[in-house]
Amino acid sequence: SMEWTPVGALTQDLKEKEVLIRGRVHITRPVSKNMAFVVVREKGFTVQCLVTTQGEGVSRQMVKFVAGLNRESIVDAIGVVSVPGNPIKGTTQQVEIHLRKLYCVNKALPTLPINVDDAARSDAEIEAALQSGDKLPRVNQDTRLNFRVLDIRTPANQGIFRIQCQVGTIFRQFLLSEGFVEIHTPKLIAGSSEGGSAVFKLDYKGQPACLAQSPQLHKQMAICGDFGRVFEIGPVFRAEDSFTHRHLCEFTGLDVEMEIKKHYSEVMDIVDRLFVTMFDGLNERCQKELEAVGRQYPFEPLKYKPKTLRLTFEEGVQMLKDAGVEVDPLGDLNTEAERKLGQLVLEKYDTEFYILHRYPLAVRPFYTMPCYDNALYSNSFDVFIRGEEIISGAQRVHVPEFLAERALACGIDVNTISTYIDSFRYGAPPHGGFGVGLERVVMLFCALGNIRKTSLFPRDPQRIAP
Ligand code: 4AD
Repeated sequence: SMEWTPVGALTQDLKEKEVLIRGRVHITRPVSKNMAFVVVREKGFTVQCLVTTQGEGVSRQMVKFVAGLNRESIVDAIGVVSVPGNPIKGTTQQVEIHLRKLYCVNKALPTLPINVDDAARSDAEIEAALQSGDKLPRVNQDTRLNFRVLDIRTPANQGIFRIQCQVGTIFRQFLLSEGFVEIHTPKLIAGSSEGGSAVFKLDYKGQPACLAQSPQLHKQMAICGDFGRVFEIGPVFRAEDSFTHRHLCEFTGLDVEMEIKKHYSEVMDIVDRLFVTMFDGLNERCQKELEAVGRQYPFEPLKYKPKTLRLTFEEGVQMLKDAGVEVDPLGDLNTEAERKLGQLVLEKYDTEFYILHRYPLAVRPFYTMPCYDNALYSNSFDVFIRGEEIISGAQRVHVPEFLAERALACGIDVNTISTYIDSFRYGAPPHGGFGVGLERVVMLFCALGNIRKTSLFPRDPQRIAP
């Protein structure tokens, strides 16, 4: 009864020791009737195994069996660790295993729709191979997503989803340490939570209902319920029409809501410390994963400051104006203007992470609190990484009559959200919060350029499978 040694733990310290490993057949290399190599891969680590009839109890039949294994099959392999004289090319582990036994635990198909090696190549590798006359297959995005289970086995993808896991973990750890309570709000709701047309409608036992576009209404109701500070990590549904690099129809929302004592800057203070903690944490905890991502998709580390830059919307508009870009001072910024402002901020302040606040009221959702000194503006903010939005947040209207008035003015059927508005009639503290798109954080931290890369099984306007 041997224990399994992880492939990643196979080091020269284990020389001459017999080990048992479980992994996938990464590739087989038959040499002769008496000898073959098989590279075994486990969670991104690879080790070369040698099978030869010169080995103890190894028959020609076993050599043939090993050489004929289908790629990606799962195997248990037993053998002795040896340290070859020359460095081993193409594997992560610098030892070789001389096989004694090999069991095929589960057989993969003889030909696969995606070869993991092909899916793992960087553009630079493919270009270099093309230059030298080799033709290396390029795996396109749709093929990757159609056969995602194979695609996510590449080192870069293994890295991306481990980084994503840490974003959620750090978010939770930080907020718990700040006295926030984790909540879970319903995703089946009666009225739309954000307004607009991007809502999935459904039939709820004969009543019209929809999938929550955010936990907005219920996280605020939790504040009315005296939790003081809450957060949620959960699915968010948006019936997006446009097919873009940054919109999904289902994504994971990281949501925060908290009481405010004096000013909405208290919410921005949380954003600031949360994200600086997160970026520091990712750089510290995910070094290997970031390297693996960078090998396939090269990127520059994110530039951010220990204290996050805050600009008002008016200052942003002025910066754009000074650079010759005219935008509506009471309208929203389009993606092009946002990106341009990101560049200007980087040049002037040397950061790719910043907060833009005091947005025009007209471009914010109905529940947003207007500025006390000028009702054309609002106590709200967006947060940007590399010129793209990852967060929007605000102080909320907590006065029920005014909230109903704002909903009406924004064209929302007040009847569908009456229980929400009523919640404020029983006494409600001033409060605010924000929502973050998990997939966008990872996409922009690693400059991946397409949100489908950071969603395990993406849902976009053209895809609902696998
Ligand atoms: O800007 P949004 O729509 O804001 C809200 O949902 C508010 N309830 C938040 C709040 O507390 N005031 O969405 C929040 C974030 C965006 O900044 C973006 O990162 C992400 O969610 N997001 C999307 N991510 C992927 N696909 C989409 N279709 C997204 N729409 C928004």
